[in-house]
Amino acid sequence: MAPKPGVRLFAKLEGQNPSGSIKDRIVLAIVEGAERRGLLRPGDTIVEASSGNTAIALAMVAKQKGYRVKVAIPRGVVPSVGDILETYGAEVIWCEPRSGLKGAIDLAQQLAREHGYYPLSQFSDSMNMDAHYRTTGLEIVQAAPEVDVFVVGIGTGGTLMGVGKRLREHNPNVRIVGVEPRLGERLQGLRSLEEGFMPPLLDLGQLDGRFLVDSPSAIGMARAIVRAEGILAGVSSGATMEVALRVANGMEKGNIVVMFADGGWKYLPARPWDAAEAGVKALDETHWW
Ligand SMILES: Cc1ncc(COP(=O)(O)O)c(C=O)c1O
Repeated sequence: MAPKPGVRLFAKLEGQNPSGSIKDRIVLAIVEGAERRGLLRPGDTIVEASSGNTAIALAMVAKQKGYRVKVAIPRGVVPSVGDILETYGAEVIWCEPRSGLKGAIDLAQQLAREHGYYPLSQFSDSMNMDAHYRTTGLEIVQAAPEVDVFVVGIGTGGTLMGVGKRLREHNPNVRIVGVEPRLGERLQGLRSLEEGFMPPLLDLGQLDGRFLVDSPSAIGMARAIVRAEGILAGVSSGATMEVALRVANGMEKGNIVVMFADGGWKYLPARPWDAAEAGVKALDETHWW
């Protein structure tokens, strides 16, 4: 898919992780950080708000380590997320779609206060970015030749901050480009900073550029990736790829690493291609990335 011979595109395929997304890394790091500080014991309950991937990763890690899990999820995430969570044995608490992920975060915090559950807190626990510095970023440095540009979606900002730090240590001139959904669009995993919620881990000073992508473009690009490259990537990967191609078109030569945060499998029952063709309403009712 690279538009010119001098520009090479490398995708980091995080859908290959055991529970299917980049979030396995941060959940394991946060849980083990809490265990080291004596805050978690087997049999405890962990609570978290998530639009999908973090909840699924938590459900997996918790089973392996002997914790109970409750997740607050806004109605409107792709339905297979709920099915996957129930299969892993997590308890799902569905939240009002209007209050969005913010409403789910508030509910998770309330449950933690009232019942003494351990709040995973992916938006504020520094182990989130630390996991990406130690693992994701290191793997990119080891696997890819000199990286000139890194294109990454912004959810908690953990990937951007952790990988960005590692890449900058390796090459101070690397450009870190963030991808956000267009304001008001529910794109699963990512969020528009214009919505008024600034993820506490995110330092905008670490960004060299920010691009917005709408849902139809993200979904259309996810389909183009599987058709052209045989990689079934998730909808946020369509968005990051869309931006990687915009950046590539403005370069003569160089290496771009683009983050594919999850695989496309769990989105298929929601029929993303049909929704993109059916238009705005069907798209607005679903969190896509
Ligand atoms: C599919 C997907 N893409 C991208 C992201 C963004 O990653 P981060 O939270 O590290 O900013 C997430 C998670 O929030 C995600 O689930």
